[in-house]
Amino acid sequence: MAALDTYFQLFSVLHIVFFLTVPAAARSLVATSLPAVRGAYSSDPTTFPPSVVDTSLFTHIYYAFLMPSNVTYKLEISSSTALELSNFTTSLHHKNPPPATLFSIGGGGSDSSLFSRMASKPTSRKAFITSAIEVARKFNFDGMDLDWEFPNNPKDMKNLGRLFKEWRRAIDVEAKATSRAPLLLTAAVYFSVDFFLDSVYRKFPVRSINQYMDWVNVMCYDYHGGWNTSFTGAPAALYDSKSNVSTSYGLRSWIKAGVDRTKLVMGLPLYGRTWELKDPNFHDIGSAAVAVGPGDKGVLTFAEVEEFNKKNGAVIIHDMDTVSTYSYAGSTWVGYDDDITATLKIGFAQALGIRGYFFWALGSDSNWKISRQASRAWILGE
Ligand SMILES: *[C@@H]1O[C@H](CO)[C@@H](O)[C@H](O)[C@H]1NC(C)=O
Ligand SMILES: *[C@@H]1O[C@H](CO)[C@@H](O)[C@H](O)[C@H]1NC(C)=O
Ligand SMILES: *[C@@H]1O[C@H](CO)[C@@H](O)[C@H](O)[C@H]1NC(C)=O
Ligand SMILES: *[C@@H]1O[C@H](CO)[C@@H](O)[C@H](O)[C@H]1NC(C)=O
Repeated sequence: MAALDTYFQLFSVLHIVFFLTVPAAARSLVATSLPAVRGAYSSDPTTFPPSVVDTSLFTHIYYAFLMPSNVTYKLEISSSTALELSNFTTSLHHKNPPPATLFSIGGGGSDSSLFSRMASKPTSRKAFITSAIEVARKFNFDGMDLDWEFPNNPKDMKNLGRLFKEWRRAIDVEAKATSRAPLLLTAAVYFSVDFFLDSVYRKFPVRSINQYMDWVNVMCYDYHGGWNTSFTGAPAALYDSKSNVSTSYGLRSWIKAGVDRTKLVMGLPLYGRTWELKDPNFHDIGSAAVAVGPGDKGVLTFAEVEEFNKKNGAVIIHDMDTVSTYSYAGSTWVGYDDDITATLKIGFAQALGIRGYFFWALGSDSNWKISRQASRAWILGE
């Protein structure tokens, strides 16, 4: 159990570092005024129904995804989706404890140009916002989330800032008119505040996020994957000594740009990414690879990674340089986070003084192993 010993040592060190480095005033501010966010996106509410969720582990559960019409920009809900949405909120609100429910609009595979068109005009922004609020109230959601992947240029970013502003104003007006608690408003965003890797530089609207959003879910994952089969890579490394593609760089970039720490929620993947090694004798992070490994486009849920490891007697490594986990068996290599590396990242996030964490996606854990350990490890904002 050498790895586990290392884990406990490192984890205690992180907590000591936290209490030495984060000013007491900042700690108590986080701890007393804002409850921690322990979020999760539910990407498959039919195969993984809300009725089976252990809600003691989560504060906010997101239904993923809804899409606006590309003509009217309204959320047009089919009768089968309507049933799914009702089931989702009813079932979760009846749980003990009941988590807050939000729906997320967009998603990784969705048409980013639709959002660009919608956000570009006051009339289409209004149609979108009005419809989103109507759907939220009709189906008893507590809030709304935008997952536009991604605004493509500086103009899109400017329009995103306007959208947030108008959305918040509409939420406030509706809450006042109906005497109900205002709906929550969040967004899923890139791991870094700016697209420093892309040819078209652009940066998220920091001031608008501070003023109008409850928080943003920072997608701290997908740093490496099957889109590049030449090398293995840690898909969600906390640190990377050779590049800025890491969670520590990403979260710090948001803070450096001026986003309030309490508006930042760190993403954790409940899935791994696989490669086939060029030579099974070279199996470090960054070793030569030739193809994606098992899984859909080289993606395995954490539950499937554990099954793969067990079935194949894989060697499991907790890499403390990157703070990530990988395993290999024969020529197959898997990069992922388990309960140990996820917990170390949570120590880092608390030391930064941010609001909480979220998972993509709810149904991919293995008997709540990572979700439970993360929930225990987050000791602030109770
Ligand atoms: C809207 O989507 C439909 C179906 O995908 C497509 O045929 C149509 O061209 C789109 N309209 C616009 C304005 O993009
Ligand atoms: C909604 O819930 C009912 C009762 O639990 C179930 O029979 C039905 O299949 C669910 N429908 C959807 C779309 O989730
Ligand atoms: C894969 O990554 C390597 C190293 O960063 C780079 O040289 C190569 O061009 C990339 N290949 C693709 C297909 O992106
Ligand atoms: C990382 O970003 C910083 C600026 O934020 C830059 O000075 C540094 O050169 C970058 N490092 C790499 C390896 O790109």
